[in-house]
Amino acid sequence: MDAPDIKTPLPGPKAKAIIDRDRQFVSPSYTRDYPFVIARGEGSVVEDVDGNRFLDCAAGIAVNSTGVSHPDVVKAICEQAQKFIHMSGTDFYYEPQVRLAEQLAALAPIDGAVRTFFGNSGTEATEASIKLARYHTKRQGIIAFLGSFHGRSMGSLALTASKVIQRRGFGPLLPGVYHAPYPDPYRFKGSADQCAAECLSFIKDQLFLQLVSPDEVAAIVVEPIQGEGGYVVPPKAFLQGLRALTTEHGILLVVDEVQSGMGRTGKMFASEHFDLKADVVNIAKGIASGLPLGVTCARADVMSWPPGAHASTFGGNPVSCAAANATITLLNDGLITNAATVGAHLLNGLRELQNKHRIIGDVRGIGLMIGIELVRDRESKLRAVEERNALVQAMFRRGVLVLGAGKNAIRLAPPLVFSRAQADSLLGVMDDALTEISHSINS
Ligand SMILES: Cc1ncc(COP(=O)(O)O)c(C=O)c1O
Repeated sequence: MDAPDIKTPLPGPKAKAIIDRDRQFVSPSYTRDYPFVIARGEGSVVEDVDGNRFLDCAAGIAVNSTGVSHPDVVKAICEQAQKFIHMSGTDFYYEPQVRLAEQLAALAPIDGAVRTFFGNSGTEATEASIKLARYHTKRQGIIAFLGSFHGRSMGSLALTASKVIQRRGFGPLLPGVYHAPYPDPYRFKGSADQCAAECLSFIKDQLFLQLVSPDEVAAIVVEPIQGEGGYVVPPKAFLQGLRALTTEHGILLVVDEVQSGMGRTGKMFASEHFDLKADVVNIAKGIASGLPLGVTCARADVMSWPPGAHASTFGGNPVSCAAANATITLLNDGLITNAATVGAHLLNGLRELQNKHRIIGDVRGIGLMIGIELVRDRESKLRAVEERNALVQAMFRRGVLVLGAGKNAIRLAPPLVFSRAQADSLLGVMDDALTEISHSINS
C-alpha cells in the first residue's frame, strides 16, 4: 500500500457518517484532533473508510510497533485464539505467559533476577508499581515529575502532571505524591549538566528538606524520555543522579518505559541509552503490537508480595502474550535496528528542515521517538501552540497522521517498520505543511 494518497475531501462521506454516530453514542472525553476513520492498514500505511491512504506516524499512540497487523503477529494471535482465548493467569497457568515473563527477565533493564506482573494497560502497570513500592518499602511517599504521564486511573492520575484537564474535577487523588521538575535541556538556560543538577537539587534540597523525609518515600517514578510531555530527552546525568539518590535512601526507582520501550528508541528500552538500571520497569503500548497488555517487571527480591496481594482477571491474556512473544522476535530480528537507522535518517532530515523553517525551535529524540517543538521566536522560545495545531491539521490534509505532545510539540512515533523512503516522504510533506502554516501566519 502506498501513501499518502488522498482521493476525497476530508472527511469523506463514509467517515463523516461514522463520526456523526460516534458523536451521539461515544464518550465525549476522547481527544480526536482530526476525522480519521480507519478501515484497514498494512505496515506504516493506514486506509480510511473512503479509500484515502495515510502515512501513519502515530502508530495508534506509539502502539503498533510492528506495523498494522503484521502477518507474524496475526498468525500468533490466530493460533493462540484457536487453542484458548482466556483462562486467567490469576488462578491458572499457561505457557505463553511464562515464556513472556522469561523473555522479559532477560530483556528488562534491571540487574539480577526479575519477576513480572501482568495487567492490560499502561495505567495498570503504573498502579501495580505504586502498590508494589508501598508494599515492599512499607513507605507511602511517591515522587513523580511535572509534565509526566503515567495513566488516568486514580492512582496513576495522581502521578500524571501533563495537562490540567486530565486531573480537573477528579480530586482528591492519591495522597503522598510529590512532583519535581523534569529537565528540559532546550528550555533550560545553561548546560545539560547544570539542568540535571538543578532538577536533582529540587528533590534533595527542597522536597527532602521541606516536604517529605526520604525515609518516607517508597518510589521515584520517571519516564526515561518524557512522552506526552513533549518527547523531552533528559541529560544522562539526571537519570544517573536519580539512580544514585534512590539507592542512597532505599527508595525504589520505577522507570516508566510504556511509551519509550519495546524498540522504539533503537534499543529494546530507552534506559539502555542512559546506562540506567531500574528496580521496577513498567511496559505497555508496543509490547503486544496493539493487543492490550501492560506489565510491571521488578527485581525478584522486590516483587515479594504474597498470593492474593495483587492480581487481574484479564491481565496477561494468552492471546496478548502470544502477540507479545511474536513482537519480541520481530523486534530482535531487525525492527530495533531499523528504528535506529531510519530514526537517525529522519532526525538529520528534520534538522535540515529546522535550518529552513524558523518556526522549528528544537528537534530532539532517539530512534523513532522524535519531538519537534515549534516556537514563534527562537530567542524568547515563545510557544507556537496554534501553529502546532495548524501543522497537525495541514499534515492530515496531505495524508500524514501525526499527534501533538506537550503544549507546542509534534511527536513522530511511526511503527518500527517505517522505511527510509517513508521517512523521506514524511519530510517532504512536513516541509510543504510548514511552508503553508508559515505563510498563513505571516499573511
Ligand atoms: C509513559 C506512559 N505511561 C503510562 C501511560 C498510560 O498507558 P495507558 O493509556 O495504556 O493506560 C502512557 C500512555 O500514554 C504513557 O505514555
